[in-house]
Amino acid sequence: MADPPSPGRARPPILVTGASSGLGRHFARMLAAAGHPILAAARRAPELATLAAEIAAAGGRAATFALDVTDAAAVDATVAAAAASFGPLGGLVNNAGINESAPLLDQDIAAWDRVLATNLRGAFLVARAVAKGMARAGGGAIVNIASILGLRQAGGVGAYATAKAGLIQLTREMALEWARHGIRVNALAPGYIETPLNRAFFASPEGQAMIRRIPARRLGRPEDLDAALRLLLSPEAGYITGAVLAVDGGHLVSGL
Ligand SMILES: NC(=O)c1ccc[n+]([C@@H]2O[C@H](COP(=O)([O-])OP(=O)(O)OC[C@H]3O[C@@H](n4cnc5c(N)ncnc54)[C@H](OP(=O)(O)O)[C@@H]3O)[C@@H](O)[C@H]2O)c1
Repeated sequence: MADPPSPGRARPPILVTGASSGLGRHFARMLAAAGHPILAAARRAPELATLAAEIAAAGGRAATFALDVTDAAAVDATVAAAAASFGPLGGLVNNAGINESAPLLDQDIAAWDRVLATNLRGAFLVARAVAKGMARAGGGAIVNIASILGLRQAGGVGAYATAKAGLIQLTREMALEWARHGIRVNALAPGYIETPLNRAFFASPEGQAMIRRIPARRLGRPEDLDAALRLLLSPEAGYITGAVLAVDGGHLVSGL
């Protein structure tokens, strides 16, 4: 998969959740350009339609699915429909996620439930539904989009960091249980990546101070994640499973 597309060598279809914006949208476009048929899922159908049109205009193939990953029945139906579109799924980029920041003493419980339901329960529902099909087809590769906040702490993101830590441990559990089915499961843990949603914060004095604490002295860009994602999805990574790969400009190894 890391190789350029070549005639006669079909790339497996890949499901990307949270494909309507940000990193998921970027991943879908990047993987489509590498020759993979893309199954793009998220709640906002108009944004997905725009993405699919862009992929088609660039010569790729995409199908879209309006999906709330917290809805178990909808996840199963969507994964079945996705597998019927371009054939058995070879990869999953389990990317849908939300954050609702709050200090833990003031944590709203409904917000806590939303963050855990999307980032952890939703990721499990999608991975399990996809893995059942992969097991029948002889294997596949799942990449869970975690965060360095699943490995370290920061104030005000308790629910999000807890969900991402859970997703990292879930990655290891799934890797253990599903290796016998030829399914590899790894986590990609991005550092702070600049997206339209956080651009204003990182332009502020607090945001600039945070950037100075990153050893690379800059924010990540979506394309900084591409090589790691391609590797983890690739047959070249056939013996890599249960790994957590941080792509963070050294943020996790920043000095005390
Ligand atoms: N940006 C960063 O610095 C950074 C760093 C580390 C990790 N991450 C992780 O990367 C992933 C993408 O983040 P992003 O920065 O690209 O954020 P984003 O632009 O807000 O994208 C989040 C995506 O998740 C989808 N989503 C949210 N809730 C959903 C639900 N219930 N069902 C289905 N889809 C849902 C959204 O689509 P709809 O609203 O259309 O449903 C959207 O497409 C997340 O898992 C995030 O935790 C991001």
